[in-house]
Amino acid sequence: MCGIVGYIGDREARPILMDGLKRLEYRGYDSAGIAIIHKGRISITKQVGKIAALEEDLNGTHLPGTLGIAHTRWATHGEPNQTNAHPHTDGTGNIVLVHNGIIENYNALRKILGEKGHTFRTETDTETIAHLIEEFYRNGTTFEEAFRMALSEVDGTYGIALITKYEPDKIFCARKGSPLVVGIGEGENFIGSDASAIIAHTRNVFYLEDGEIAVISKDGFVTKTIENELVQKKIEKISFDLERIEKAGYPHFMLKEIYEQPHTVADAMRGRLIEEEGVAKLGGLTPILHNVLRSRKIFITACGTSYHAGLVGEYMLEQYCRVPVEVEYASEFRYRDPIIEDDNLVVVITQSGETADTLAALREAKRKGATVMGLVNVVGSTIARETHGGTYIHAGPEIGVASTKAFTSQVAALTLLTLMIARTKSMSAEDGRKIVKEMKDLPVKVEQALKTADLVQAIAEEFRDKRNFLYLGRGYNYPVALEGALKLKEISYIHAEGYPAAEMKHGPIALIDDDMPVVVIATQDSTYEKIVSNIEEVKARRGRVIAVVSEGDDKLDRLVDYTIPIPMTLDLLQPIISIIPLQLLAYHIAVMRGCDVDQPRNLAKSVTVE
Ligand code: F6R
Repeated sequence: MCGIVGYIGDREARPILMDGLKRLEYRGYDSAGIAIIHKGRISITKQVGKIAALEEDLNGTHLPGTLGIAHTRWATHGEPNQTNAHPHTDGTGNIVLVHNGIIENYNALRKILGEKGHTFRTETDTETIAHLIEEFYRNGTTFEEAFRMALSEVDGTYGIALITKYEPDKIFCARKGSPLVVGIGEGENFIGSDASAIIAHTRNVFYLEDGEIAVISKDGFVTKTIENELVQKKIEKISFDLERIEKAGYPHFMLKEIYEQPHTVADAMRGRLIEEEGVAKLGGLTPILHNVLRSRKIFITACGTSYHAGLVGEYMLEQYCRVPVEVEYASEFRYRDPIIEDDNLVVVITQSGETADTLAALREAKRKGATVMGLVNVVGSTIARETHGGTYIHAGPEIGVASTKAFTSQVAALTLLTLMIARTKSMSAEDGRKIVKEMKDLPVKVEQALKTADLVQAIAEEFRDKRNFLYLGRGYNYPVALEGALKLKEISYIHAEGYPAAEMKHGPIALIDDDMPVVVIATQDSTYEKIVSNIEEVKARRGRVIAVVSEGDDKLDRLVDYTIPIPMTLDLLQPIISIIPLQLLAYHIAVMRGCDVDQPRNLAKSVTVE
């Protein structure tokens, strides 16, 4: 989604802002812009397309100034063109702002402002905020007061950074529902919609909370609520290094992150397994442990890849903890008034910790009295802060838009949760120890699964031009089929569907012919014999089958077109291994088709609008 970066200090703002924008590219965007104030004059440049296009536009332009803001836009209101790109201005051009989020009442505000003589140049909701501030300022308040008054009229979500000729040595920021982080330097300060935009310059940061504003100068800042109450902010240290958000020699972030998985899976489990007792310990759940262990029903709510991890969680929690589990897309959960009792646990799963629907689902669950725990990757994110307790998955920054390492770490964390709850119920220490032992072997097995890369690349070469793919799995591998299909469609733009294998004959089988690649996850688990029958059904209709199989299983060689052997593990852990070749397949096909793997069209990394 949209990204914001801001700088105020003694250095030239332009290179800092452009570098920040590049670090925000991964969030997904379709246009970009920059505004710098110098000697009381504000220069704005914006361009459609990649940051490179903006850079080209700026080539040969002298853009001096030590204070500025910049933005990457992911279009919501109005098509992605130069006019609609941020920054936006008021009628006088003296107020310039960038905005993440959506102003829901912008039509009503536009009408009122229109009646007062304001004319709008863009189709965006954002422009309305600039005019609204202008309107209040025109009526004789201080600028800060006008800023706060305008925000109190606005419904919806925003992260805002604003510069103005009226106070040319300040940046005004505000947050409601769309994150903003302020980086503190020496004689200079930074603003980012996420830490990666500013981490090259400082590690000392504070996060704005909903309903707060910050007025930032080069030597300091004041934070308040929109209602004008002063707020003290705690400065925190960002713990991740710059290298973690760089490609480290890989051609794409996605590939780097796929290869990080032996380590990230280990990091998700580090210090949390007690082998002798066959149990897991999750410190972040201490405040809510009683409710977690005693919950009589568990809801899991999430979006996209995190939702698929949640489906794996459902299988394991029900199998081992004997608690009913319901998994639901956060976008449905938040609106359908689910029946939630006091003794229910709601688990929200999110990589970014900022997904708008997941956040709303979390708030809804809290409102209904549930205990809410998070499985979150981004430390300090909104969802991490709003849950009653939770577990970080410790996958490190995930920059590739297609989520990979977060999925395997989420499944690992769900296994820890399962183990923790199950051991207080009927699971024996011996059974617990078996799971712990297998979990400890996972990093090595993930490493082995990555060795299928050459084979997968050859398969990708053969199937790269197909227009449709079907992914089939059963049991724990059913969510893997969904996730494999999602990976392929989002980065290669090939239509792909995931199905529980047996469901195929209730409709999708009609699609199968000799032009239809069918990826089947057929590892030797409790559903193996059944899935072999499903493969037979595909082959009987001349479908092309690529089967992910357990190492040493040559039974399928005669039946399918390709086998991809991967290490075996316990059923509940198998998704962590089975997904690896599917991530690689999607990656290689997308690269061969010339797709921009790290920034697929129309997609955003962190979906902060509903
Ligand atoms: C797919 C993908 C998305 C996210 C979804 C949820 O590769 O990245 O489907 O999984 O937008 O995002 P988080 O986990 O940040 O809540």
